[in-house]
Amino acid sequence: MNSGSESDKFSLADFFLAETDDPLVPPPDFLKWRRDVAWAISLYEPSLGSAAEAICQLGSRPVINMASYGYLALMRHPKIIQAAKDALDQFGTGSCGSPILSGRTTLHDQLESGLRLLTGKQGVLTYNSGFAGALGTVAGLLRKGDCAILDERSHTSLVDGVRVSGARLAFFQHNDPQSLDSILTRESGKRRLVIVEGIYSMDGDMANLPALLEVAESHRVGMLVDEAHSILCCGPGGGGVVEHFGAGQRVGIQYGTFSKGFSSCGGFAAAAPEIVDYLRFYSNPYGFSCALPPATVAGLSAALEVMREEPWRRERLWENGDYFRQQLQRLGLDTGDSDSYVVPIVIGDDRAMLYELGHALRDRGLFVSPVDYPSVPLEKLRFRASVTAGHSRESLDQALGIIADVIVPAMRRRGLLKGVQV
Ligand SMILES: Cc1ncc(COP(=O)(O)O)c(C=O)c1O
Repeated sequence: MNSGSESDKFSLADFFLAETDDPLVPPPDFLKWRRDVAWAISLYEPSLGSAAEAICQLGSRPVINMASYGYLALMRHPKIIQAAKDALDQFGTGSCGSPILSGRTTLHDQLESGLRLLTGKQGVLTYNSGFAGALGTVAGLLRKGDCAILDERSHTSLVDGVRVSGARLAFFQHNDPQSLDSILTRESGKRRLVIVEGIYSMDGDMANLPALLEVAESHRVGMLVDEAHSILCCGPGGGGVVEHFGAGQRVGIQYGTFSKGFSSCGGFAAAAPEIVDYLRFYSNPYGFSCALPPATVAGLSAALEVMREEPWRRERLWENGDYFRQQLQRLGLDTGDSDSYVVPIVIGDDRAMLYELGHALRDRGLFVSPVDYPSVPLEKLRFRASVTAGHSRESLDQALGIIADVIVPAMRRRGLLKGVQV
């Protein structure tokens, strides 16, 4: 992709509707575009040659890893690995069945007990995929004629869940209680559910939960909080943004994934036992999909234990996030609304620049994710840096040095540096 070329005017948003007669024939203009932008998008689907730690191997090259979600750096914790190995020896490679019919083990029971303690909710359901679990939880609760009211920055899994359910899909402006209020008023008379995230995945800002809850409660409407990026990482005991705000009793259903704070895979819903009992039979990604593998489950229970013994990991995560974000701001870079360890570096609408800089950063040994439209607005293309508890101050400073060498001069040349005039 070169600046000003035809191909950089297009994005994945342009090829969703296929104008071919046969679904097995992808749109020819997509295939042409894919060839034209091959160099740019070779940044996607990289293959790691090691664990997704703060310093990892990209192929066979060491890089500073700010692209993986293992916020609490648990992916190679000896206690967790040992627990997973023991379970592998005792229970074998897979659970070999849906949890409803045969896939549960005593390890699944233990994990659900641990998650009940973590969330303070008495009902818990685990899923083998964070995405499928979020989709399935939403689709399991809503029906045609209902209305889901989502923060406009909600993850695709939640949006897809509403679509699958057949319920009406409405969005309120990001984190804005007044906007939520007016949509709830507009949709009154229907069964409604408000859906928000704990920490937003592309922007790294926390839900304005107290104000949003007040509005939802004033309409007597319940709330689902997706804590994919916040469970285990926020709140004094790791119970998420819900715990951070002391809102456990007021949030009807809390959802979390295991791919981020837990450095593993899967997801869970936590709610009152009768809600979870209903979901067991009406959330298809639970009932119609194989249960999490026993080794993964044992590792997840061990991760809960480790985080009770090593709360410093949560403190380090937040310290690292604050340090990195503040240093980026000092360089004049735009970190958007972030107030956490998920830190966007917003570069504007120049798609060619996004990919040129992405390659330059990677060549210099910094692994961050480029985020393009339609995942974020056209004028707010960005890199997203995930800071973790595993990053040393030295590695953060090295990353900042690379960013200062690569991104800052390019932004300055284009007059895009925040607060810096040329
Ligand atoms: C808010 C939210 N929900 C659900 C998911 C899906 O989780 P997973 O990647 O574990 O499937 C993500 C993933 O990034 C997410 O950000």
